[in-house]
Amino acid sequence: MKNIIAFAGSNSSTSINKKLATYATSLVNGAEVKVLDLNDFELPLYGMDHELAHGIPDNAQKFLDLIKSTDGIVLSLAEHNGTYTTVFKNLFDWMSRIDGKLWSDKPMLLMATSPGARGGGSALEIAQGRFGFMGGNIVGRFSLPSFGDNFSDGKITNEELNSQLIEEVEQFSESL
Ligand SMILES: Cc1cc2nc3c(=O)[nH]c(=O)nc-3n(C[C@H](O)[C@H](O)[C@H](O)COP(=O)(O)O)c2cc1C
Repeated sequence: MKNIIAFAGSNSSTSINKKLATYATSLVNGAEVKVLDLNDFELPLYGMDHELAHGIPDNAQKFLDLIKSTDGIVLSLAEHNGTYTTVFKNLFDWMSRIDGKLWSDKPMLLMATSPGARGGGSALEIAQGRFGFMGGNIVGRFSLPSFGDNFSDGKITNEELNSQLIEEVEQFSESL
């Protein structure tokens, strides 16, 4: 059986991106899913001085090990001021100090959602532009606009958007 990891680029205990990532994994057939939470991988704010004085924190290595040992990644990015959240970028920066190709060519379903009409589209675009240089292998993309209107009881309520996600999940599943 294939193993996948899913997580949100957020440290909110009520993260809507974690809800979306969890829902997306429920559409993947026959895979063992581990839903990760960035709060379980606390890290100091990246700084060159910190790295020189203390080295790379264990949690960065632990998260990278989870990426390296999985068959696929479901990631839903929260958007803060038009880009990744600080907590995600910080993890990303720390892991990049160990391995610049940190995504390790693992098939990735890349998503974003927000309460707004663009559904975290800016963070998604930035990630799409960058991840390819860092071992990224994005095989599915999905943005859920207006989360509050389109998601309830753990699933997408808008049929058209749900069908779009199912198509992306199918592509992801075929790549595992
Ligand atoms: C500092 C800050 C900046 C934000 N900037 C954006 C933004 O640029 N675009 C957007 O769609 N939503 C923005 N939001 C709203 C977030 O999309 C919303 O808080 C969402 O719930 C974050 O996802 P999460 O629940 O998975 O953490 C912002 C929220 C905060 C706190």
